[in-house]
Amino acid sequence: MAERKVLLERYDVPNIWELDVYRRHGGYATLDGLFAKSPTDWVEEVKASGLCGRGGAGFPTGVKWSFLAKGTGKPTYLVVNADESEPGTCHDRRLLERLPHQLIEGIINTCYAIDAHEAYVYIRGEYLEPYQRLVQAIREAEAAGLLGKTVAGQDFPLRIVVHRGAGAYICGEETALLSSQEGDKGQPRQKPPFPAVAGLYAAPTIVNNVQTISTIPHIVRHGAAWFAGINLAPESKSPGPRILSVSGHVQRPGIYEVETGTPFEELLYGLCGGIRGGHDLKSVIPGGSSMPMLPKDVILQTDTSFESIRKAGSQPGSGAVIVMDETTDIPTVVWRISRFYAHESCGKCTPCREGNPWSVKLLRRFVDGTARAEDLRILVEVAEAMEKNSFCPLGIAAAWATQGALKHFRHEFEARISHASAIAAGD
Ligand SMILES: Cc1cc2nc3c(=O)[nH]c(=O)nc-3n(C[C@H](O)[C@H](O)[C@H](O)COP(=O)(O)O)c2cc1C
Ligand code: SF4
Repeated sequence: MAERKVLLERYDVPNIWELDVYRRHGGYATLDGLFAKSPTDWVEEVKASGLCGRGGAGFPTGVKWSFLAKGTGKPTYLVVNADESEPGTCHDRRLLERLPHQLIEGIINTCYAIDAHEAYVYIRGEYLEPYQRLVQAIREAEAAGLLGKTVAGQDFPLRIVVHRGAGAYICGEETALLSSQEGDKGQPRQKPPFPAVAGLYAAPTIVNNVQTISTIPHIVRHGAAWFAGINLAPESKSPGPRILSVSGHVQRPGIYEVETGTPFEELLYGLCGGIRGGHDLKSVIPGGSSMPMLPKDVILQTDTSFESIRKAGSQPGSGAVIVMDETTDIPTVVWRISRFYAHESCGKCTPCREGNPWSVKLLRRFVDGTARAEDLRILVEVAEAMEKNSFCPLGIAAAWATQGALKHFRHEFEARISHASAIAAGD
């Protein structure tokens, strides 16, 4: 089985981040036909392609664009989410570093479709090199007349502003991102109103992920039907190539672009060379640490389509596939994940602010072997309270880490209780 390289097709071309090299390899060819069609036609084309957002929620991109409030008298903005802080996720970084012009081309295509003349890229603060590459590429595009008062000679002004984050995971959540972009504390806002109605500076705003926007030129170039046909799972409504970041206990971790519906078995044992050192697979988190983990027997019956992952009891999330072999201690994994969420909780709501540190404390006892039976009961209750009552998906997803582990690996937690009780009883 091979990768299906579309966004990554030009990845290995030397100096592909430079404008002339990108252009020599077909870059910006979409601008030849873009302006011949109306913006509404392009929104319909992206809708028909079935592209679903790659940032986490998987919302259909064209449908989101069609929700933009009209006639508000305010400008429309595009905000590209380049915060990429979900543990295990590293492909947006590669797209920014190596193919910044593909993203800029996608921004131009998208801004024309949604009638925006100002686009922002909110980039993770720690991503220094990707930031430098992107800014350099924007400067080159401006100098070449691809951005600025006109785009490729068309009466369509467009400016791109790059905004660096300051290292908060929650600023990847779209409304927290907008608050941070405006200079406020990065905390999620109440929805509705959704950004498409009242987003950046209370104006209609589309927030899309780096990979989502980098996909747009390929749809513009090859059409919706071509994109919709990249799908090995006929029942799936989330077609297209998708880049996954595979990390953990495989022989060849890395980023892989595969066709929707590629079986995880082929991804892990074919492309990634199998489990390291002859070990056996134990569990996989298919969409970043926020998503529930799945055991071996389930993941090997699952494919990469959004529908298959959801049916298996997890979520496609950010596309970070975290692989664990049989040497992995699940209570320790969940404890580490919970520590991350306790650290990154923005503190706005009680279930997440208090629930995460509480979970960490309880999970630590399972790691230490000092857990009591009631610790498991309380852990379940705290996770349930977080899942039901948190203000934003961070708190909900933090609960999923615990819940996913307990659903499939409860025996490992129970074994720690027995162990602790035996020690207490002096056995
Ligand atoms: C805690 C949290 C962190 C998130 N981090 C990111 C991120 O780093 N990058 C991203 O594109 N989306 C992230 N999202 C999802 C965004 O809120 C939003 O759904 C996405 O940017 C929309 O783009 P898309 O439709 O192209 O996927 C995050 C969501 C949550 C709740
Ligand atoms: S769930 Fe967590 S991150 Fe989200 S608003 Fe509440 S405290 Fe903040």
